[in-house]
Amino acid sequence: MIDQFQRPLHDLRISVTDRCNFRCVYCMPTEVFGKDFAFMERDELLSFEEITRLARISVAHGVEKIRLTGGEPLLRKGIEELVAMLAALRTPDGRPIDIAMTTNGSVLALKAQALKDAGLKRVTVSLDSLDDATFQAMNDVKFPVSKVLNSLDVAHSVGLGPIKINMVLKRGQNDQDVVAMARHFKGTPYILRFIEYMDVGSSNGWEMADVVPSSEVVARINAELPLDEVAPNYNGETSRRWRYRDGDGEIGVISSVTQSFCHSCSRARVSTDGKLFTCLFATEGHDLRALMRGGCTDEQLSAVMARIWSERTDRYSELRSIETGKLRASGKKKIEMSYIGG
Ligand code: GTP
Ligand code: 5AD
Ligand code: SF4
Ligand code: SF4
Repeated sequence: MIDQFQRPLHDLRISVTDRCNFRCVYCMPTEVFGKDFAFMERDELLSFEEITRLARISVAHGVEKIRLTGGEPLLRKGIEELVAMLAALRTPDGRPIDIAMTTNGSVLALKAQALKDAGLKRVTVSLDSLDDATFQAMNDVKFPVSKVLNSLDVAHSVGLGPIKINMVLKRGQNDQDVVAMARHFKGTPYILRFIEYMDVGSSNGWEMADVVPSSEVVARINAELPLDEVAPNYNGETSRRWRYRDGDGEIGVISSVTQSFCHSCSRARVSTDGKLFTCLFATEGHDLRALMRGGCTDEQLSAVMARIWSERTDRYSELRSIETGKLRASGKKKIEMSYIGG
């Protein structure tokens, strides 16, 4: 199944909850996601059965990787049951699916073993600084670095891996820590990835001046710890890989703003309430929950998903400056990351 630009559907990212116990400044700023913010009610969320049904149909259409995100996916009660249900899926030629999760690591130490037992293959943990003052200013809930580091070690020890670490860079907030982070994780089992701050959603007040281009990140690290670029692991990978010349591991840079990767984007997203989005920056999704709750058959659902993907023309990051202007002028709101699933 391919879209209008010949891109296959390969990855499904599912947001299992719109809630999070962090208030990262670039994702869920406290001013917007405060005490009175209306998160979704339980019956609005897709059930595990509904999620698994969509996943099964997607797998029949070529999906080989499922990533659970949020919000914070580990806040969804019984998440390991969902992992087990997804782990039972097989590709049309009988292979298991790569099941991954992106988490803030806050409760991962408690859940790692159960997730591994349920069939989770790997986790990616967000960590924006090693300095408590900086990290706490970014997560805005005073969460300490040490607990995330402990989660990483527990996840590694139970065999969830390779573990990646996501560091979103916001200029003037944590970019002073680039080289310290690189040094800390060099030679460890963890692959550190630097992410350009993106204009997702409508609440983070994104400005181009806040973005630290990946070229600058690579140059800063390379000046102290020499790097060589290496080929991607797979076609459509978000991250560009750089290996330490001394053989001591690698880093990645995710440059959605300065070097977009739409040309090979094979990701679909399912929001917490079951809308299918074919781009992270979409303004509208397709309501699959309504179809399922309205009693449609698997064949009908499958045909709808195939049609949506085959009509897809998304390439927001390639068009960013034009689109941002148009969207601002139209007053339309982009969807928040916590709801659409990073
Ligand atoms: P791997 O399976 O390890 O390659 O994971 P991943 O990089 O696809 O997923 P992850 O959840 O770690 O996301 C890393 C960063 O890339 C986050 O900031 C995501 O929001 C961003 N990202 C992931 N997919 C896309 C995409 O399709 N478009 C854009 N613009 N950003 C994306
Ligand atoms: N820009 C870039 N990355 C972001 N993330 C959340 N919001 C943004 C943003 N505005 C990251 C999280 C997590 C991943 C799913 O997306 O830190 O690692
Ligand atoms: Fe929560 Fe992740 Fe968003 Fe931070 S980036 S507020 S940890 S969902
Ligand atoms: Fe894919 Fe949209 Fe991201 Fe481009 S901006 S890589 S089309 S999700």
